[in-house]
Amino acid sequence: RGWMTENLYMYQGYWHQSMRRISVENVMAVQDTFKARPTDIYLATLPKSGTTWLKALVFAMVNRNRYKCKPLSTDHPLLVSNPHNCVPFIETKVFINMPTYADAHSPRIFATHIPYTSLPQSILDSSCRIVYLCRNPKDVLVSMFHFANKLREKSCSPLTFEETFELFSKGVMPMGPYWDHVKGYHEFSLECSENVLFLTYEDMKRDATNNVKRLAKFLGCPFTKEEEVNGVVQGIIELCSFENLREVNKQGNVFEGIPNNVFFREGNVGDWTNHLTDEMSQILDQITQEKFQGLDISF
Ligand code: A3P
Repeated sequence: RGWMTENLYMYQGYWHQSMRRISVENVMAVQDTFKARPTDIYLATLPKSGTTWLKALVFAMVNRNRYKCKPLSTDHPLLVSNPHNCVPFIETKVFINMPTYADAHSPRIFATHIPYTSLPQSILDSSCRIVYLCRNPKDVLVSMFHFANKLREKSCSPLTFEETFELFSKGVMPMGPYWDHVKGYHEFSLECSENVLFLTYEDMKRDATNNVKRLAKFLGCPFTKEEEVNGVVQGIIELCSFENLREVNKQGNVFEGIPNNVFFREGNVGDWTNHLTDEMSQILDQITQEKFQGLDISF
């Protein structure tokens, strides 16, 4: 019912929505037609893992000479626009119908929820950089539960948390199963560490400063000592903070009627403790332990 379950199809081992803005039809279209450039940056995530935050941070960082973050330019796009409007998903119709973006200045910044194994071949063949942001599955589940109910058609009855848990633990969510998506990109990051950076939402929250510096270095735009002394890193972090982005996005719509504000709920680590029973938590721990066995992923 609604965003979480409606029109879901299995394609190449993952659940995809159909007839939506981000859809399996668009994934197939970009698989055939998308032309990556070596200078491109791709931000890969599962929905509800912090995509909006990562888009804002990378957009602000890469464009910091064009739009100053310290002192903050009054015309900074993130002061008036949702990060989703600044960094498009490759698998949306808007991008597919927007040939001019192909001419955008370098580096182009894109996002994607497409699983690693279904990425367009031209991305895999190019030497572009990919950042993967992963989040504790329990917080992804909680975030998704609220998001799905906010986007639910008025005619559908709300999804209960129990139903959402059942679906999530069976791997059913757009672009899920969660564990396969994360594992695919994690293994890719080990094989290709120069081109793929694997981050967690929790680590970003714990230490935004060092992770933002690490991101900038990885993306080929490290901060100079002068920028650090002048507070540019802090300026970017403040501009992209949950509180600031939520304030900017109180009104308006992004994506065909999706309200801007649904992308900003709590922005915390560990809200799952307010939703999951001990039994639910243990079940997810067990699945995560089995699926991530031998991998160095912690939250
Ligand atoms: P919660 O629902 O737990 O609050 P996505 O962008 O992938 O859709 O993920 C949405 C989640 O990221 C939501 O989590 C949202 O509140 C959180 N989020 C959005 N902007 C953020 C920011 N600037 N800093 C930290 N978390 C943010």
